[in-house]
Amino acid sequence: MLIDTHAHIYMLENPEMGIIEARNSGVDEIIIPSASEADFEPILDLCHRFDKTYALLGVHPEDCEKFSDSTAKKIIEFAKDEKVVGIGEIGLDYHYSKENKDIQKNCFINQIEIAKMLNLPIVVHDRDAHFDTLEILKSTNAQNVLLHCYSGSVEFMKECCSLGYKIALGGVVTFKNALEPKRVAQEVDINDLMLETDCPYLTPHPFRGQENSPKYIGFTAKEIAKLRNITYDSVCVATSNNARKFFRLSDKIEEEI
Ligand code: NI
Repeated sequence: MLIDTHAHIYMLENPEMGIIEARNSGVDEIIIPSASEADFEPILDLCHRFDKTYALLGVHPEDCEKFSDSTAKKIIEFAKDEKVVGIGEIGLDYHYSKENKDIQKNCFINQIEIAKMLNLPIVVHDRDAHFDTLEILKSTNAQNVLLHCYSGSVEFMKECCSLGYKIALGGVVTFKNALEPKRVAQEVDINDLMLETDCPYLTPHPFRGQENSPKYIGFTAKEIAKLRNITYDSVCVATSNNARKFFRLSDKIEEEI
């Protein structure tokens, strides 16, 4: 009854166990984003071994200097695989590096164009780069945008949602001092919200410090339910429906049956 829209399962110590434990914890579908070209094949291999697991193809801003024409060709070729449900994770990250802004932007824009060409949704990584990210999304007229691990303000969230973009929240909302993410969890329209773990990173409380895994996503759902004063089940149902619609998972599930 839960969907993890962003799980780097292939980075876990034991990816197969991560998927099995997720199943036993009520996680139905898992979306696995790539960070670099080297991830494409291992992710697709996992997705073909486990039903209800799906792939995103894309190059993360931290790997942008390796993005080339041949990477673009590979994304287009691999996207023919029925397990691919989007392009990601792509975007801008000025936290670690501001020196290569132009290369990051170029890599981001190129992949938005690929997504548009293939009519696939995009999953966006934006760290300390809110202004430029929004500017690029607007100028490229990007459609079907999910802002993963949303870290901006309530005001910025409202602006993004008014453009039709969706927001994914993860374990950070369970952190005691994460006041702004908690406000975002309260204020966002439930129809614009999805859940994620971003595993192996950002493990929710009370497991902080351990390797994150989709099995912990319920702790994030619980915290959001508490913050919004609604039931846990209603958070699960709404966020799962949003994810199924956004990634068009229902068509995929029917194909698999
Ligand atoms: Ni990620």
